[in-house]
Amino acid sequence: MSVSCIAGSRHTAKADAVVVFLAEDEKSFKLETKKLSAELPHAAPLLESGDFTGKKNTTATAYTGSAMEAKRLIFSGLGTLTGLSLETVRQAAAAAAKRAAAHHCTHVAFEVPSLRGKSVNDVAQAIAEGAMLSQYKYDKYITKKSPNGTLVTKFTIMVTDKTQLKAASQGVAIAESIVDGVTIARDLANAPNNELYPEILGNRAVEIGKKAGFKTTVLDKKKIESLKMGGLLGVNAGSVRPPVFIVMEYNGGRKSDKPIVLVGKGITFDTGGISIKPAAGMSDMKGDMHGAASVIGTMNTIARLKLKVNVIGLVPSTENMPSGTAMVPGDILTFMNGKTAEIDNTDAEGRLILADALCYADRYEPQAVVDLATLTGACVIALGNVTTGMMGTDEKMKTRLKESAKRTHEYVCELPLYDEYEELISSDYADIKNSGGRGAGTITAALFLKHFVTYPWVHLDIAGTALLPKATSYMPKGGTGVGVRLLTDMLRNWK
Ligand code: BES
Ligand code: MN
Ligand code: ZN
Repeated sequence: MSVSCIAGSRHTAKADAVVVFLAEDEKSFKLETKKLSAELPHAAPLLESGDFTGKKNTTATAYTGSAMEAKRLIFSGLGTLTGLSLETVRQAAAAAAKRAAAHHCTHVAFEVPSLRGKSVNDVAQAIAEGAMLSQYKYDKYITKKSPNGTLVTKFTIMVTDKTQLKAASQGVAIAESIVDGVTIARDLANAPNNELYPEILGNRAVEIGKKAGFKTTVLDKKKIESLKMGGLLGVNAGSVRPPVFIVMEYNGGRKSDKPIVLVGKGITFDTGGISIKPAAGMSDMKGDMHGAASVIGTMNTIARLKLKVNVIGLVPSTENMPSGTAMVPGDILTFMNGKTAEIDNTDAEGRLILADALCYADRYEPQAVVDLATLTGACVIALGNVTTGMMGTDEKMKTRLKESAKRTHEYVCELPLYDEYEELISSDYADIKNSGGRGAGTITAALFLKHFVTYPWVHLDIAGTALLPKATSYMPKGGTGVGVRLLTDMLRNWK
């Protein structure tokens, strides 16, 4: 997929379709459509019919005959202008791109609308993001591509005024880096376990780092043993395939700047282990490394954007398998920092591998750590597929994430970590146990992690937002790439 920026007009744009955004407000709609109808008589019947009114998430196509280079004009509604957000622009661009794809267009040009209070950079970025993200499809294993599965492969973002070209190009360049990271995360999350197991995840991180400009070191099982990562080794005990611990380093900041550490859960497949999951829907658990995918995708994007921050990415990775050598309930594991946990349920494996990663983060004396994990089914029950659960000790980073969530539309909602919940994970035989039962499952999982934290920390439970049962706007079914846009926005605004 390619995207370029030009200064041009809707008449001469060489594309299969030109997209024009229209707002719903009567005055603006009348004014704009009057101009359009005068310029393009072919569009007049549609615009005067009342069939398209500029409502959010609606689109319409007019055919231009010989009036324009492009055969089609696609109108995309922005809703009302008051309170219009960049998210509306992203969604409107996605809707138009999807409509164009349905018309079998491969090249689509977008007019950048001028919106009060919004910079050309931001609007161009939002259009490029929405359009590109909407065309994602995980079809690598489909040998016969369907005829109605055509995707747009070329986007042109068009400004009418030459003086705006630089701003629009900057916005589009940022969008390209972001979409690249999101696509990496989606592809990793969607890859099945027979393709993508821990060793391969490590290789991918190395390849991506080489291209984007960050350093990757993959620690093997021997090294993991010598580090005494009992959590990662315990979860791996049932697997034939060995675990890896991936360390990614990007140094864009000053030498003296303490790093921000990103940690991602990398369970390449979660069967539940001996506490095995029911068969229905188990295949979703190929996406149980979405936290890792989000971290790798973010490392990619921030390196490509050359952000002036120091960031470390850590990914503990293993499968969670049942077998004669697997850990069993009642087992007691000892983590890297010497703390112990009783295994109550082998399906609560994410927190076990994250515990060691959080211990490992110590050595960087991080200014802050954020972890992302598809950690609990309870989080899906609480917040559905719309909102990520947020918990932690770092008030400042929670505020940063809330701000970024507003801008990126990757919602977060905070749950409390009151001490009163601690008793749910107390054990008679070890320091803590790995499951707190059904109540407050998302909170007790986070409280488990808190035992391994010695720095300002935020935990993001992305169990609901990482994998979608069906596509919405610019989000596909399956792996969403959640976290990449959120974290990139936070790091772009770090200071
Ligand atoms: N990977 C799952 C959580 C999950 C569920 C992610 C659904 C995405 C969609 C996690 O390892 C798990 O199995 N958690 C258990 C914990 C319980 C045994 C304490 C759960 O949520 O049931
Ligand atoms: Mn599990
Ligand atoms: Zn899991």
